[in-house]
Amino acid sequence: MNGYSVKNEMTNVPWQLASVSKSDRETLNGHRGAVIWFTGLSGSGKSTLSNALDKRLYDLGIRTFLLDGDNIRQGLNKDLGFSNTERTENIRRVAEVAKLLLETGMIVIVAFISPYQRDRQLAQEVIGMENFLEIFVQCSLEECERRDPKGLYIKARRGEIPHFTGITDPYESPENPEIIVRTEEERAEVATERILGELRDRNLI
Ligand code: ADX
Repeated sequence: MNGYSVKNEMTNVPWQLASVSKSDRETLNGHRGAVIWFTGLSGSGKSTLSNALDKRLYDLGIRTFLLDGDNIRQGLNKDLGFSNTERTENIRRVAEVAKLLLETGMIVIVAFISPYQRDRQLAQEVIGMENFLEIFVQCSLEECERRDPKGLYIKARRGEIPHFTGITDPYESPENPEIIVRTEEERAEVATERILGELRDRNLI
């Protein structure tokens, strides 16, 4: 057993019912809540796309909140590294946070590499598949390395960063994502409009 597997031993803690429901909050917000989950390699364009979507929705008067791996790892998850058990815990925690935010009726945007199919599946189960929209930010490793926006690939190639996704650690592509954005082919503004269209089609906004 690893240090992060969480056993719920608190069987005497009942769930407290809320007097204001999720649907009351959605009515107040004027739109439904959802979790939009971006997955992809480092440098694939998750932060760019998730920020563009966040801004676009905000400008439309929609309540959103963005959870980005780089930022969450500086606070809530700063105790976690990049071994597979730690990545699993990273994703479990962010899924639980997204689930709480979903209860506020917000559109929660999550941008994490989330390299393991199983972890994304667990996140979907925590959040509920009816609330979960997976977006695969697809970009070849060659292009991510060429972009290398944080200078991490070059370090990983030099052996200075262990477990680096795509280099010494795996990335498992989603099998059935709701949306695929190929960032080598499609501009961020165009992809953002396409995602908005999907949210409208699903009557989320
Ligand atoms: S995840 O795999 O656990 O989902 P997450 O999205 O939280 O990753 O964090 C990824 C970010 O951490 C990368 O964009 C990069 O800036 C940084 N990073 C540092 N070390 C690694 C590593 N070994 N593998 C991948 N990303 C790393």
